[in-house]
Amino acid sequence: MKKLLFIAAAIIAISCTPKVKEFKEISRMQSPDGGLEVCVGISDKGEPVYSLSRKGEEVILPSRLGYTLMDGRSLNRGFKPLSVSPVQEKDETWNPVWGEESEIRNHYKEMSVTFDKEDGIVMRVAFRLYDEGLAFRYEFPMENKLTYFNIKEEVTEFAMTGDHTAWWIPGDYDTQEYNYSETRLSGISKQMEKMRIYNASQTGFSRTGVQTALQMKTDGGLYINIHEAAVLNYPTANLNLDPRTLTFRTWLTPDAEGIKGRLQAPCVSPWRTVMVVDDARKVLSSRLILNLNEPCCIEDVSWIHPVKYMGVWWEMITGKTHWSYTSDVPSIQLGVTDYSSLTPHGYHGATTENVKRYIDFAAENGFDAVLVEGWNEGWEDWFGCQKDYVFDFVSPYPDFDLAGLNEYAHSKGLKLIMHHETSSSTVNYERHMEEAYSLMNRYGYDAVKSGYVGNIIPYGEHHYSQPIINHYHYAVTEAAKHHIMVNAHEAVRPTGLCRTWPNMIGNESAMGTEFRGEIHPGHTAILPFTRLQGGPMDYTPGIFEADLAVMNPNDPQKMQITIANQLALYVVMYSPLQMAADLPEHYAKHMDAFQFIKDVALDWEKSVYLLAEPGAYIVTARKEKAAEGRWFIGGVTDESAREVSFPLDFLDSGKTYTATIYADAPEASGVLDKPEAPYNPQAYVITEKEVSASDSLSLRMAPAGGFAVSLKAK
Ligand code: NOJ
Ligand code: CA
Repeated sequence: MKKLLFIAAAIIAISCTPKVKEFKEISRMQSPDGGLEVCVGISDKGEPVYSLSRKGEEVILPSRLGYTLMDGRSLNRGFKPLSVSPVQEKDETWNPVWGEESEIRNHYKEMSVTFDKEDGIVMRVAFRLYDEGLAFRYEFPMENKLTYFNIKEEVTEFAMTGDHTAWWIPGDYDTQEYNYSETRLSGISKQMEKMRIYNASQTGFSRTGVQTALQMKTDGGLYINIHEAAVLNYPTANLNLDPRTLTFRTWLTPDAEGIKGRLQAPCVSPWRTVMVVDDARKVLSSRLILNLNEPCCIEDVSWIHPVKYMGVWWEMITGKTHWSYTSDVPSIQLGVTDYSSLTPHGYHGATTENVKRYIDFAAENGFDAVLVEGWNEGWEDWFGCQKDYVFDFVSPYPDFDLAGLNEYAHSKGLKLIMHHETSSSTVNYERHMEEAYSLMNRYGYDAVKSGYVGNIIPYGEHHYSQPIINHYHYAVTEAAKHHIMVNAHEAVRPTGLCRTWPNMIGNESAMGTEFRGEIHPGHTAILPFTRLQGGPMDYTPGIFEADLAVMNPNDPQKMQITIANQLALYVVMYSPLQMAADLPEHYAKHMDAFQFIKDVALDWEKSVYLLAEPGAYIVTARKEKAAEGRWFIGGVTDESAREVSFPLDFLDSGKTYTATIYADAPEASGVLDKPEAPYNPQAYVITEKEVSASDSLSLRMAPAGGFAVSLKAK
């Protein structure tokens, strides 16, 4: 073992968990480029401690590691350092099945420090240091006095060096469907007082807790992102801030009995990550979270593919039609009620005739698939009744021709996307899963959108607790056996597992388009820094009719977007699964702008992040994987109009490209509260010009607007 050094961190705080004042260094390691340095040590109380610096500047002050256990034992003090592994360097590249680039470099240094206690308990902490960030996890080896153990709390700390600016959503055990707040760390609790928190009454709720991924910026211009990777058989973490010491502590989601993880050695925790870079664009180009996940474990991936789709969906979200078939509630009980004897209410969305209309439009415009929600029995009382058995996932409503519509779609070169709303009864879903997936195989569906709206059943469980995280994983692994791709809504935020299970082609797990008028401008300029770090999002972009009264005069919401902004999302918000969410009749009025959605690729050779600032703006360029090698650029802004310029030096040199530019018109505006920029979301201009790698583009984005560009080599 290395010689023990003694260092001091002279910070005194009046707090129940004071900052670590001093610790003995055990080992330190630098990132491959030498820019980052992690130091690992132990305090005089035997607390494992780490700190992180970048080019000599502290980023994470000495912070504690460990756990408390339900049986009173502690894994956060009383340790002795037992051994340190030699530092090793790994440099490999891998090819994702789909992604933002065709090749990803995984380059890091690693070491692990093993701590033990007199009672024979052994805890190892494995550290990996990348050029852009630190990752560490807890490992419990086989040779251990700890075999079965239940976590009371993981007490990993992240002690901040200052009152950074943060982009955050409140800690929650069940949902991420929030707008982001931008405050100083010291302003989190005050801001939270003003917010509508869905689950503020849950046990142990904290008004200073936020969710991962947490994006921060220091006054000195460093971008720090705290996240987690490879969350398997373990709950997800919130981060609870002690405002007196500006120290975050992990705050795991409890299960129905209040236990925050039931583990059995040998086992490992998820990775805890701290990204630290000096340029916001480097957060977007980082593949830290994917790299920390295991390689693809599906041998034959030939059935996994990107999907561009439309859906019988937005008309239900906006209230024009409905998921249910009848209003004969509450008499309905699945398996007992004969639907064909009930009277339809007349505004069911998933009728055979209406679905055919979408199939026709989607097929004419080159889409891969059509999602149909509300096709199956049970929607009459699916929400808010805490019913265990709502859906059986196999019984179509009388006006939905399951076999005929699949045949019709296939005859036009499309597939239907299955919808399994579980109404959060994971037990009921597991009961029917094999039959439900088999039905999909029988009719030729290869993708399912699942959903977890409402309180979880088993009662008392949470969307992010260990047993329910195991459920989502079970759904994905069972789906893989049936060659089915999964897009789960309301499930836990992804933590890079799509590297291992690339049939996870989408997830929602954040506030998406369904929140309509509630979404703040700038939301899509923060999501790539936070939610998308763990995997793609089914954001459901492409809204052309922003005035939702057109569909439902009783709910006259207006979305703070422009058409050009919506086009940009197909590039800015990476996903191999992209929806054109609006109705065919709305696209039919703007077929010139719709052309971009038809053209845009879904799978990329490479991506270049041209301009970025969290919550304010992002401009991204991507080159398609296909032989033609077209480039696409997207730009989004928050409520501020912006002029942006950027060189096109990423284009292949020596080639001339035709650029088709979809921009906000000078009079466009997506915001509702700016008298100087009156709301005008549908004003766009499409221009064409010839460009090459030596040119630049200068474009203006309207408030809440954006732009999209397609570039085709001549
Ligand atoms: C919430 C999902 O996010 C939305 O897309 C879906 O339409 C509804 N649940 C119904 O399942
Ligand atoms: Ca949702």
